[in-house]
Amino acid sequence: MRRNQSVATAVGLDEASDTIGERFHTGWGEIDRVLGGGLVSGSVILVGGEPGVGKSTLLTGLALGWVRQGVRVLYVAGEESPAQIRLRAERLGFEPAHEDGFEILAEVRLEPLLEALEEALAADAVAGGERSAVIIADSIQTLTSDHVDSYPGSPNQIRHCGAALGELARRRGCPVFLVGHVTKTGDLAGPKLLEHMVDTVLYFETGSGEIRILRSAKNRFGSVDEIGIFRMAEQGLEQVDNPAALFLTERDKECPPGVAVAPVYEGSRILLVEIQSLVVPAKGGISRVFSERIDSGRVSRMAAVLEKHLKVRLSDQDLYVNVGGGIHIGEVGIDLPLSLSLYSARINQPVPPGTATIGEVSLAGEIHPIAHLERRARTVQEMSFGRLIHPPVKEGQGVAPPIGIPAASLTDAVRACFASRPG
Ligand code: TYD
Ligand code: MG
Repeated sequence: MRRNQSVATAVGLDEASDTIGERFHTGWGEIDRVLGGGLVSGSVILVGGEPGVGKSTLLTGLALGWVRQGVRVLYVAGEESPAQIRLRAERLGFEPAHEDGFEILAEVRLEPLLEALEEALAADAVAGGERSAVIIADSIQTLTSDHVDSYPGSPNQIRHCGAALGELARRRGCPVFLVGHVTKTGDLAGPKLLEHMVDTVLYFETGSGEIRILRSAKNRFGSVDEIGIFRMAEQGLEQVDNPAALFLTERDKECPPGVAVAPVYEGSRILLVEIQSLVVPAKGGISRVFSERIDSGRVSRMAAVLEKHLKVRLSDQDLYVNVGGGIHIGEVGIDLPLSLSLYSARINQPVPPGTATIGEVSLAGEIHPIAHLERRARTVQEMSFGRLIHPPVKEGQGVAPPIGIPAASLTDAVRACFASRPG
């Protein structure tokens, strides 16, 4: 049978391309790391975040870097006027009179937009250049297609427009960024719909004050554990290169009760974070948990373990938990510092200065080992903490005393931390 071009044909594994496409660096170490080592050509990246977090600022900053490397940037302006985009670019240091390659397409109708993008990309081919291009669609919620009978930003429109831009990216080998607004409530009708059809999902979150955190929720070309940390300054976003102590609060005096420090593993880095708890009698005796940065299920679980094994009453208290710097913490090693923070708040006695803790706590109150203990201990020492209460380790392994203090159970850890066990 003759092979017809319109019929799909199977290819052997050896016939398939063995490269995933060229990667180019963004010029920002923090972003290259989150992307898994640079931007892959032909990939589709969803950048989600609440309005005002700095998505357009981030992408404009990246765009300027690319333009200076000779990469063309096609910026689809759905949210703002070209004048607003120009003002932002100038604020970030772009000089329109001397630099070119940043082109704005003020078009939200999908079909004319696709035509304009094809034309712009073809212009390079005609010129015989090898010039790469990046497309930024800001935002996907503003685009509408004639082929979809619903309002802009509706699930069907988002799906259709996202798929069309994704198809263009793959066919032309040109990376496409789709900006999507997410609301505090999670917004299921929004960009989450696109997660399965894009290669990479980055969420941009607000930490406290100027801190911004870029997190990858999905990445076909790298790990999803990496985070990038930035500061929103007058002149746009700045990367924070050495964030180990960024989330610690500087204090002249001793820590108040309820504060516990933990060396958490975020991507390939260790960050010292501060867990802060406040425990107050619950109105009507019904305990509630208020915790945005640590899963509230984890907080309830640790409260139950404390109540059972340390005989502190928490079930008639309201528990407020926060993480200094506003960073979300999901790793299991947070169990022990969270428990000690709650305990410290409940007994109204501070964790002694210079103490950091890490470990997973089981429902039976045992402390389970965690990965990268030595590296965590090194960071703790570098940040001038004198001791780290950690899970039990095998003979001859782990962290040497007096820094390392192994604890097999939550009871042991509390005893080691507060010296004597009250009650
Ligand atoms: P923006 O990128 O427009 O947010 P998003 O696209 O996610 O909605 O920027 C949000 C905020 O950042 C805005 O309130 C102004 C502030 N900002 C700075 O502080 N410095 C800057 O250089 C720029 C461009 C913005
Ligand atoms: Mg914006």
